[in-house]
Amino acid sequence: MLAVEWHPMEQTALHSLAWGPELTTGDARMDATHETFVELLNQLMALPPEAQMPLYLRVIDHTVEHFAQEERWMLATGFAPENCHALQHASILETLQAVRTHTDQGDNTLIGRLAVALAEWFPQHAATMDAGLALHLQSLGYDTRTETLPEDSPVRPATMSGCGSVSCSG
Ligand SMILES: [Fe+2]
Ligand SMILES: [Fe+2]
Repeated sequence: MLAVEWHPMEQTALHSLAWGPELTTGDARMDATHETFVELLNQLMALPPEAQMPLYLRVIDHTVEHFAQEERWMLATGFAPENCHALQHASILETLQAVRTHTDQGDNTLIGRLAVALAEWFPQHAATMDAGLALHLQSLGYDTRTETLPEDSPVRPATMSGCGSVSCSG
């Protein structure tokens, strides 16, 4: 899933990801988190390997918070804890930690390659799973700023199995 996509005509991989309307999901708080994620990735891709670790640790911390935020909203609006969106998050976090370990063991090429792979992965994740989650939250009137459902909402937390209307392929 996180294979680096090379562009043979340019003899180089993607080294930046532009923030723009095509990355937005319709939820302002989710989009603000995503914009920071994209900024951090771009900064990371611009650094030489020997200077990447401090920022990489910030990227890990930010991504843990980013994914936890979305998973909190899922649980509050009826998703089962082990839904496919959350499982994809878990697999990314596992890769982030594995790259940290291997970099500590001496391979300083991995962070740059992973940053490029994440820049390739993120637009599709945002357009499918995250945008799907944003639509689901809006349809229920869930407020992501206050993290509350309307008083009269019939939804009960963590009762929906699987992914609901959100595609598992994103
Ligand atoms: Fe996200
Ligand atoms: Fe997500």
